Amino acid sequence: MFFDLHRHLEGTLRVATTRALAVRDGHRLAAVDDLDDLLVARGPLGGLVPFLAKVDAAPAAFSRLEDWQRAGRECVEDAAAEGLDYLEIRFAPWFIRQETGLAPEGVIDAVADGVRAASAETGVRTALIGILLRDLGPECGLDQVDTLLSRRDLFCAVDLAGNEGGVPAADFAPAFARARDAGLHVTVHAGEGAGPESVWAAVRHLGAERIGHGVRAAEDPALLEHLAARGITLEVALTSNLHTSVAPSYAAHPVRRLLAAGVPVALCTDDPRASATTLPAEFEAAREAGLTDADLAAVRVNAREAAFG
Ligand code: ADE
Ligand code: ZN
Repeated sequence: MFFDLHRHLEGTLRVATTRALAVRDGHRLAAVDDLDDLLVARGPLGGLVPFLAKVDAAPAAFSRLEDWQRAGRECVEDAAAEGLDYLEIRFAPWFIRQETGLAPEGVIDAVADGVRAASAETGVRTALIGILLRDLGPECGLDQVDTLLSRRDLFCAVDLAGNEGGVPAADFAPAFARARDAGLHVTVHAGEGAGPESVWAAVRHLGAERIGHGVRAAEDPALLEHLAARGITLEVALTSNLHTSVAPSYAAHPVRRLLAAGVPVALCTDDPRASATTLPAEFEAAREAGLTDADLAAVRVNAREAAFG
């Protein structure tokens, strides 16, 4: 059973599709010599921000709503080819608006259409998570969440993503309160581009039930105890953590310590195109990180139990 709880649509957009759409439109990306190099990390990039630049370079080529329907479809088709049983797909409608000028409500409907159709065809179960982007600033947090709530039934949860070193999570507390009041689950990127204090903030101020990454929680024993006691699952993406230089190697990744502390861990891909990875490849990488067969079996159970959909 393969369950991926953390995969960004923007980080799944295929290089070939990005190129084809850019050529169709005469978009500036069509003139890039090595699009692969622009959109895919091949090694450590030294930080979160340069990695996000690779993830975020593709959406500008998806200039029509039908392109976002295709994006949703291809994302699920790729998941089916990997052998996934269940996939939570997250995306940031306001970021897509910024890159394309498209109405975010239209983008949500188009993505949901594509995902629904491909899910029915392939049998991969799917659920959608709406992202609020830190980088757009806390002033528009409530507006971002209202866009998601205009399509409430299409989403299982809300997330906070983007540059963790920028706007603090606490500034988004009103937006997350509104999402929780509407019955959405909460996951938050934290403990990736910043330290344990960022994970504490996600739990205390935003009501996070799961944490995207969270790996720097390993630096704070009290936090590990809190996460274990509350059953707050960490969505760990090993290859992404190498590319963002959160961990220097699989072998030195703290995932084993997280599990040993009793913290539920689910293995995820984050951005399969930008990291050139798949969920089965992440399970292989986990062996290099020192996880045993028993650990991997526990990780699969964790993912099933922490699923929002
Ligand atoms: N958006 C896409 N990938 C991300 C990551 N690893 N951290 C924060 N935001 C992201
Ligand atoms: Zn992520």
